[in-house]
This record gives sequence, structure tokens and C-alpha cells, in this order.
Amino acid sequence: MNLNLERNTPVIGATLKLDLAEALRAGGAQKQAAIEHVYEALIAHLVIFIEDQHLTPAEQVDFALQFGGLDVPHPVYQTLEGCPEIVELENDGDRPPDTNDWHTDLTFRPNPPFMSILYAKQVPQTGGDTLWSNLYAVFDALPDDLKALLRGQSAIHDIGTFRNDFLTDTMDVKAVNQGLFDTGSAVHRIVQTHPVTHREFLYVNPSFTQHIVGFKKSESDRLLRYLYDHANQPEFQVRYRWRPNSLALWDNRVTQHYAIADYLPEYRKMHRVTVINDLRSP
Ligand code: SIN
Repeated sequence: MNLNLERNTPVIGATLKLDLAEALRAGGAQKQAAIEHVYEALIAHLVIFIEDQHLTPAEQVDFALQFGGLDVPHPVYQTLEGCPEIVELENDGDRPPDTNDWHTDLTFRPNPPFMSILYAKQVPQTGGDTLWSNLYAVFDALPDDLKALLRGQSAIHDIGTFRNDFLTDTMDVKAVNQGLFDTGSAVHRIVQTHPVTHREFLYVNPSFTQHIVGFKKSESDRLLRYLYDHANQPEFQVRYRWRPNSLALWDNRVTQHYAIADYLPEYRKMHRVTVINDLRSP
């Protein structure tokens, strides 16, 4: 039993008690032990919360680099001045968020990122919680005949409704065209096997998955709708209530998330770093 870890639900999420800044500043074996502890917890629980942390932007970046290479720059969001590795998600009544739809980050790329690290800088009095769901559990709970059908299928992903982020104040469609060209699309197997645990999971999400390859549009839409409704059951989810200085890390390969936009016009600011590859994956 690990005394520094408390599960948030039986299915997904764990909170770790750890002073990250101290471990990072100590360096050497202490830093390495903390990183390995976080990684093991991440693989086991899929989303890890570490509260009351006081990290500089450089320390958040250094923490992320212990797990893999970083995504720079993000295709849509602004980054922190002087720190292109950190996406600044700043929202209020004038800047409503667009992350209140279930998604796995960046699945329109051929190689979507391994994980994200989100750091709460300013949070509303109430609301602005984030939900994550466990895509192993979602797959495990499907009927066997549907699992067998899905194992042979692939789906096309593109930037989906986030395409609106390319639209400027002048409604410049050229910018949308360029954005779509730059972000592109990707085809992924609908049932994936996790490279570390070797467990199967469902890999479609309503934000980016557009079409099941080889299906008629009506059939594809119907099956995807069924899968999204199935995935959207609270039994597969954790809901996290943010406090300032909380960190969340998630294994983006096997989770979806949804940031609840119920706090507007209040202000919410988060710093996100995205790790492209898993250094420890075989
Ligand atoms: C995201 O979708 O990565 C942002 C999640 C959040 O702001 O809670």
C-alpha cells in the first residue's frame, strides 16, 4: 500500500501527496524517485492530482520533460509569454472556453500526445470542474459482439468543432482554410492496445472523431453516437474540483476529458504542458 496515494474513485483518478518543487530542486535520486512514483501512479490510475504545488513555469516545464518531449507550439491556443511550452488557457465571459466537449487531446494527429499536465493558476469561486473518463472501462463494458466488430475498424479524426478557433474577428475564411490544412487529419484504430499495460481501450471522441472508415455516413453517425452515449456514464468518470495551485496529469492515450463551462463570466486560468512521447514506454 502506498500511504501517499488516495484514490478519487474506484475506476479512475488518484491524489498524490508530494512536494514537487522540493523534489525537483533536490535533483538526483530524490527527483528521480518522485518522477517514477508519479509515473507508476499515472499508469495505474490514469489521472493524478497533486495539490498545493508552487512551481515556476520553468519548473512545470522541467517536470514535464522528465516524462518525454514537449509539444511546441500548440496549433490553436496562445502560449505563455517567453515560455512556448506552456499553453495559457484563460477564460471568462468575453473568452468562453471551447473545451466543454469530451475529447482526447490532439487525436487529429497521426501520433497524439502521451500526456498533459494542467496547473490551476486562478479558478472561479465555484464551478470550472474537469471530468475525465477511463477508456479501458468504457471498452470493457461493451457487449462482446460489439467489441469484436470494433476491433477491425478505424476512424477518421480531424479538428472538428475546434475549427471555429481559426475564425478571426473579421470572419476570414482564408484563416480557417489554412488552419484546416495545417492541422490535417488522421486515421486511428477504434480499439487500441495500451503500450505499457497491453490492455484494450476504446479510441473515439466526440470532438475529433468524424467517421468510421468504410461505413455509410448514417451508420457511422449512429454507431459513434451509441459509443459516445455509452462512454458518457458517470461510472467511468472522475470529476475534479480545482483549487489554485492544483496540478492534474492524465494519460491522454486512454482518457477523455471535459472542462465544465459553468462559471462564466468568472475568470479561470490554467497552464497546460503537453508531453508528446512516453520515455518509459517499450
Ligand atoms: C483541456 O481540455 O485540456 C482543458 C481542461 C481544463 O481546462 O480543465
